Amino acid sequence: MDLILWCAARAAALAAFFVLAASLLTGMAIRTAYLAPLARNRAVVAVHGFLTWFWVPLVVVHVTALVLDATSRITPLDLLVPFRVNEGTGSQLAVGLGTVGLLLLVLIAATSALRRYMRPSVWRWIHRLTYPMFVIFLIHAQLAGTDFSQIAISLAAWATLGGLVALALVRAAGGRMTGIPPV
Ligand code: HEM
Repeated sequence: MDLILWCAARAAALAAFFVLAASLLTGMAIRTAYLAPLARNRAVVAVHGFLTWFWVPLVVVHVTALVLDATSRITPLDLLVPFRVNEGTGSQLAVGLGTVGLLLLVLIAATSALRRYMRPSVWRWIHRLTYPMFVIFLIHAQLAGTDFSQIAISLAAWATLGGLVALALVRAAGGRMTGIPPV
């Protein structure tokens, strides 16, 4: 049973990571023209919101399977308090970063749901925590993950981060990619 839970935790984590990357990409594309050759802005906004229905259950499966898996020795409290788990060989940092990422994810998701009640500037600053959160997930996955020790998966993940950073830099520089107008 623990083996099934472990496989579920890994599969869900891997999928969650790349769905979160897609969420970041579509989020950045809302105020830029990155995806203009592919889709209208309204569709990009819809996809960005729709992806929530994928990453939320994937994250829930990842952490629930780890808590239920007796071998991983993760308790519900470890989902709330970072750096409690210490099974040696750097596990404290590796798993602790997962908890930090989870807390940030909950904050970002909750404030997104409450956006209409918040000052726009406050909401925007909280939403920007998505960028460090994603980097935290990547380091967490690289340090804690089994599948991330495979060079192909690791390369795909770092290349994904590289692509997102490049887009974020273009955006920060005020650049707006030109694209074919959507049909
Ligand atoms: C919000 C969300 C989280 C995301 C997106 C996430 C993502 C990931 C990813 C991508 C991996 C690598 C999977 C692999 O290579 O096998 C991983 C592994 C792992 N995560 Fe998370 N994580 C999250 C939260 C947490 C939390 C809160 C904990 C525990 C407190 C945790 C504990 C672990 C452990 C122990 C592994 C290693 C599993 C293995 O043996 O391969 N994660 N996580």
